[in-house]
Amino acid sequence: MLVLGIETSCDETAASVVECTAGALNVRSNVVASQEALHAPYGGVVPELASRAHLACIVPTLERALRDAGVRWSDLDRIGVAHCPGLIGSLLVGVSAAKGVAWSLGKPVVPVDHVVAHLAACLLDRPMPAWPALGVVVSGGHTSVFRMDGPTEPALIGWTIDDAIGEAFDKAAAMLGLGYPGGPRIEREAIGGDPQAVRLPSAFLRRDGVQFSFSGLKTALLYAARGVPGTARRPAPPVPALTPERVRDLAASFQHAAVASIIEGLDAALAQTGDRPRTLLVGGGVSANQALRAALDGWATTHGLECRVPMIAHCIDNAAMIAGLAALIPAPRGTGDLGFVAEPMSRIARGARGPQRKAS
Ligand code: KG4
Ligand code: ZN
Repeated sequence: MLVLGIETSCDETAASVVECTAGALNVRSNVVASQEALHAPYGGVVPELASRAHLACIVPTLERALRDAGVRWSDLDRIGVAHCPGLIGSLLVGVSAAKGVAWSLGKPVVPVDHVVAHLAACLLDRPMPAWPALGVVVSGGHTSVFRMDGPTEPALIGWTIDDAIGEAFDKAAAMLGLGYPGGPRIEREAIGGDPQAVRLPSAFLRRDGVQFSFSGLKTALLYAARGVPGTARRPAPPVPALTPERVRDLAASFQHAAVASIIEGLDAALAQTGDRPRTLLVGGGVSANQALRAALDGWATTHGLECRVPMIAHCIDNAAMIAGLAALIPAPRGTGDLGFVAEPMSRIARGARGPQRKAS
């Protein structure tokens, strides 16, 4: 079965062809048109610019994915598309393209959740792991922990009450004058820094359940970098100058605290899952971070779990993970219902702020 995946949830226009044979997911092509340079001058993604760039890129990106895979439109068996969560104008471009392709070919379209697809990235070009699994998504929009009996329907057991970890990396980089996108820049600076230089608080909340909050960690970094605001009576204590060496130390200290927070969250998640997980699945842009990958690998080994992190190319937003997840979901007959819509919030991870409260 050949599945075309389409991903336009934020600032990457992506398309991929994945071949699924007896449950094994083989990536035949993986094309990502990044808008990084477009948004860099603004220090973050500008939604209107993002959707316009998706419009310009979507057709050439789809054609390139088919060409790279060596397949024709008529060879496709199924279309998968990220329909949530993300920027609504960006999602709309991918969703409309997917519906158009499905309608013209008479093939089914499967809408998938981008957050769940990040975990499916661990299944690409590798055998299926043992279930049940713990899944952790560390991305720009989510810090979510799941209990998983299989790849398609994870149960949310942990979340952040404010920023996502990737968002915190991006803001930390901005505080240190490192620019956008922040995660890779913090990682690069941290290599030469001392992770013990500044003690920063954990983002894991020691309360019932698995919850994170990155606001305290961000504020502590801001104060360490720029000083605590003083008053007329109590002037602020002096802070060391923000020299290149100090930036490296702060980046290393921030990264150390962020990674340790995820490990603490996993300890709590493991303690609360009854049926012992056999695998740890990790996904999302921050899973490209080598310090986090090493810590997760060590944690999984200690607890007797197989640690699965995606290949680096499948950590950041891509369409292979979308096609992979769509291949594993039972497809409807014909084109399926073309009435599905783009949605800004995840149905399964329900945004960065945990489960939605029921309307009363
Ligand atoms: O999964 P992703 O590509 O998009 C979302 O679904 O949000 O994640 C993007 C996030 C950004 O916040 C980026 O700074 C972060 O992933 N990121 C990293 C690294 N590479 C990307 N954070 C830390 N270290 C990295 N190497
Ligand atoms: Zn993502």
